[in-house]
Amino acid sequence: MIELKKNHIYQGDCIEILKGLPSNSVDLIFADPPYNMQLKKELYRPNNTKVDGVNDLWDKFASFQEYDNFSIAWLKECRRVLKDTGTIWVIGSYHNIYRVGNIMLNLGYWILNDITWHKSNPMPNFLGTRFTNATETLLWCSKGENYKKYTFNHKLMKQYNGGKQMTSVWNIGLCVGSERIKGEDGKKAHSTQKPEGLLKRVILSTTKQGDVVLDPFFGTGTTGAVSKKLGRNFIGIEREQNYIQVAKTRIASINDLLPESSWIETAKEEQPKVPFVNLIRKNIINVGELLYTRKSFNKRAEVLIDGNLHYENNIGSIHRIGAIIQQTPSCNGWKFWYAFKNNKPLLLDDLRAQYIHEYKI
Ligand SMILES: C[S@@+](CC[C@H](N)C(=O)[O-])C[C@H]1O[C@@H](n2cnc3c(N)ncnc32)[C@H](O)[C@@H]1O
Repeated sequence: MIELKKNHIYQGDCIEILKGLPSNSVDLIFADPPYNMQLKKELYRPNNTKVDGVNDLWDKFASFQEYDNFSIAWLKECRRVLKDTGTIWVIGSYHNIYRVGNIMLNLGYWILNDITWHKSNPMPNFLGTRFTNATETLLWCSKGENYKKYTFNHKLMKQYNGGKQMTSVWNIGLCVGSERIKGEDGKKAHSTQKPEGLLKRVILSTTKQGDVVLDPFFGTGTTGAVSKKLGRNFIGIEREQNYIQVAKTRIASINDLLPESSWIETAKEEQPKVPFVNLIRKNIINVGELLYTRKSFNKRAEVLIDGNLHYENNIGSIHRIGAIIQQTPSCNGWKFWYAFKNNKPLLLDDLRAQYIHEYKI
């Protein structure tokens, strides 16, 4: 038996390590297993540059049977290690999720949701032979049909989603920019680092503060980083020493525990970008309509056909005119301007949410 150490990364094969962990001991499992992409050769763009895809040794299996046997073994152990009140999330692409889902059902797991992660910035299909693949699926499961006392923070997720029930389609970008961990050579430290925004939703929705979250395919430690930020404990398992080092450095650099309220604020910022002119195109705002500032609605600007505002001698975006009025370097116009609808003042941010909801973007 292996001692269950919180906030620790175990190095080794996850099946062997899971076998040593005590039964009924963790509150949540997030698993991002190998995809088994079966890439036969390097992929090149039409301009002959190499595509930086998933071609790692850890993703190679000799056959579907070998992949299935591997999946059965780790999923069986996960079910044993999970508390009866716990749930498991498994993420995968079309290459593996159907095999994994079938195995999970055969092992007794009960699917609570299949979440579609819609990538707002997917990698194009360079050869132009198929549609751009812009989604992955997350299966969220309990241990079985009769295991009903699991955690689901319904109210929190509704708040997170601007007051509306969150659906099973999540629009989140791929992990890019400063969030993407790079090695000294400037190359990605890991080919499949997941965005923190994805783990944030998983952990906020299905755990409580202080819970233990296990990730048997820890990689760069995204699960550990988000668990730490949210006041949860993590347990990582990873075979490769270099990924463990990346994860340790990443998690050690996190000092502050973020209160849930601030995560909810950031979630709003994750909303898809909407040009203001789109609200005019959909008649949510009309050309010539007046927008008002929040302080007793004493300043107003006229909406122009191109989405700019006209205020005194100035013409500019909702943000620029807001900044001029406030005499600040910048301004978030969505949270600054009000439109009157049925004699009631409505913040542009709420009208933007209405647009996103109605046009499902
Ligand atoms: C898809 S990646 C996970 C990426 C991770 N979610 C992140 O955000 O960085 C899968 C990881 O599982 C590890 N792995 C593959 N097979 C394993 C096994 N049998 N035991 C432990 N780790 C394994 C790989 O080294 C790889 O880092």
